[in-house]
Amino acid sequence: MIYGQKIRLRSAEKEDLKTFVRWFNDPHVRQHLTMFRPLSMAQEERWFENLLQQENEVFFVIDIDTENHWTPLGTVGLHPIDWKNRSAVFGICLGTPDDWGKGYGTDAVRTMLRYCFEELNLNRVELNVFEDNERAIRCYEKSGFRQEGLKRQAMYRHGKYVDVIIMSVLKGEFILKRFDPPIQQV
Ligand SMILES: CC(C)(COP(=O)(O)OP(=O)(O)OC[C@H]1O[C@@H](n2cnc3c(N)ncnc32)[C@H](O)[C@@H]1OP(=O)(O)O)[C@@H](O)C(=O)NCCC(=O)NCCS
Repeated sequence: MIYGQKIRLRSAEKEDLKTFVRWFNDPHVRQHLTMFRPLSMAQEERWFENLLQQENEVFFVIDIDTENHWTPLGTVGLHPIDWKNRSAVFGICLGTPDDWGKGYGTDAVRTMLRYCFEELNLNRVELNVFEDNERAIRCYEKSGFRQEGLKRQAMYRHGKYVDVIIMSVLKGEFILKRFDPPIQQV
């Protein structure tokens, strides 16, 4: 397990797949992601089998501690990792809108970045975010990401094009910020 302040990161199990399908079929959640087709259990099972073979991907479930019981909150991953250039593409999703805006995302991003830079020895983590996803952009900025580019009209959604912002954080920048260490370590 990898522990943050309020969350922990763990490997996904087959039993989690049903929860993922429920989360990723919620239009409120999906509007912020690149996926655009409803997701079936069969597709998710195939994706999971494929994930287990991948050496250049990391995928974790984010759990929160609710009254001494860990409950799945979302997912976070690196898709893919470029080992030679020590760089990775980051993705995160909290599956239930009621959980948004409570600081869990920032905790999960920082915990994952700590893992990227202090365990995987990556040098750079980048991501793509839709220009209208202000909550996500703020969460990334708080975690040390900065905007480095903009892909104009790169995404078509809800009948119109939106720009896609490219953000990144380098190891030196993250370490310099000295974010609080996790409260628990195993
Ligand atoms: C993006 C996501 C991981 C962020 O996690 P979160 O727990 O909701 O975010 P946090 O509460 O840690 O931080 C959100 C910040 O944005 C701010 N915020 C919220 N709504 C905002 C808005 N409409 N405009 C500007 N800032 C906003 C919050 O006030 C907070 O900043 P603050 O702490 O300075 O006040 C989560 O919302 C999520 O998974 N959303 C759905 C999927 C998604 O968008 N994934 C990312 C795709 S790139």
